[in-house]
Amino acid sequence: MKFFLDTANLAEIKEVAGWGILDGVTTNPSLVSKENTPFEKLIREICAICPGPVSVECVSTGSDEIIKEARRLAGLAPNIAVKIPIGLEGLKATRVLSREGIQVNTTLIFSPSQALLAAKAGSRFVSPFIGRLDDISQEGMEIVEQILVIFDQYGFDTEVIVASIRHPRHVVDAALLGAHIATIPYSVIAKLISHPLTDRGVEKFLKDWGKVKI
Ligand code: G3P
Repeated sequence: MKFFLDTANLAEIKEVAGWGILDGVTTNPSLVSKENTPFEKLIREICAICPGPVSVECVSTGSDEIIKEARRLAGLAPNIAVKIPIGLEGLKATRVLSREGIQVNTTLIFSPSQALLAAKAGSRFVSPFIGRLDDISQEGMEIVEQILVIFDQYGFDTEVIVASIRHPRHVVDAALLGAHIATIPYSVIAKLISHPLTDRGVEKFLKDWGKVKI
């Protein structure tokens, strides 16, 4: 399973890259708006830290404009994946861009049918937002399961990025389903490693080691 970091914060990206487990980064306009750095400079810096795919979102709405914006964004660094929200205009743009070899991450996926259309249009990634579905009392992980079955059934090589992750259980459930990628906020990725019994165990071993004759 690949781990992407869901952030535009350089300090967080540097930190997790240092742990040796960072496979990519996903940003969106909301995440970028929290950083106090000019947009293109920020994206270039993220791409220099993380050699894996870095998703950057298009904000245009018509297909011609999306295509132009995506080409410009893809030119910022070789590891850019352009994020395009699912919709008819986005779908048309995705077909054109994917044929040009530009990686598209179709975002704001809330149903298996949206993911199927994105894969047919040539998307490299689809991003189902599971936390936002959980928020409205729908089981978000169910659509991940359905999308994986559909992609497997027809041999699509589109990878599923489980997004809108809120807690470690989401990561474990995504892994149990065999999702290709989880894009995880820093606050959640930091929690994946902790367990109170591990802390207690280390403390006891160190205490007992103090009694060993050397
Ligand atoms: O990258 C987009 C996605 O992960 C957003 O998550 O927490 O805003 O629903 P959230």
